[in-house]
Amino acid sequence: MKKEIIRKTKEFVKTEMENADKGHDYWHILRVYNLSKEIAKEEDVDLFVVELAALLHDVSDSKFNNGDEEIGLKKVNDFLEKVNVDEDIRKKVIYIIENMSFQKSFEKKKINLSKELMIVQDADRIDAIGAIGIARAFTFGGHIHNEIYNPNIKYNKKLNKEDYKKRQGTTINHFYEKLLILKDKMLTKKGKEIAKNRTDFMQSFLKEFYLEWDGKK
Ligand code: ADP
Ligand code: NI
Repeated sequence: MKKEIIRKTKEFVKTEMENADKGHDYWHILRVYNLSKEIAKEEDVDLFVVELAALLHDVSDSKFNNGDEEIGLKKVNDFLEKVNVDEDIRKKVIYIIENMSFQKSFEKKKINLSKELMIVQDADRIDAIGAIGIARAFTFGGHIHNEIYNPNIKYNKKLNKEDYKKRQGTTINHFYEKLLILKDKMLTKKGKEIAKNRTDFMQSFLKEFYLEWDGKK
């Protein structure tokens, strides 16, 4: 039963993500799904809730619904009803995707986070760092016509929600504005561990990048 629901959910998400940008394709969803299951192994949680939330976490992203989050949330809710997910599970999943996005963290809302939310949120953030994160950042940066690097453009130390949405700057600056900081936002033990390793890797990448930039290597 659960297996069948997961299968249908994957199908639904695949179709829904077809119009999303390249940084958020179905492969991102599958990576977050796999990472979430990995992190959940060390936690006492409802794995079914984690799996559903991981698969559905980007369907309601306002970026893909002309800035409207409610449209996506309703779509997810309707889907979960249609495939007969119990009401309490459905509510837990909706709560997670409603409260998860990185942009929401600017609002510093004080809510009690469920362990299931912490897991999926960590997994989503981890997918923005490490080798995958580097690949995604340069893809995204190219997509919005940002330079890969410009020594004359300093990074923005205090990035607020408006600045983040404007997405001005260079992709290398994005490392300092977001990617290198994400490790401090991890909420689970396993998440912290993975994020630390991936951040070390990004630091090595940056070191190499500057050496090559200056023709020193
Ligand atoms: P999310 O909230 O899912 O992280 P974003 O749209 O902020 O969504 O980011 C999607 C991907 O694009 C992430 O890998 C992120 O690091 C990257 N990204 C976002 N903004 C920039 C930017 N200005 N330059 C380069 N990469 C970016
Ligand atoms: Ni995501």
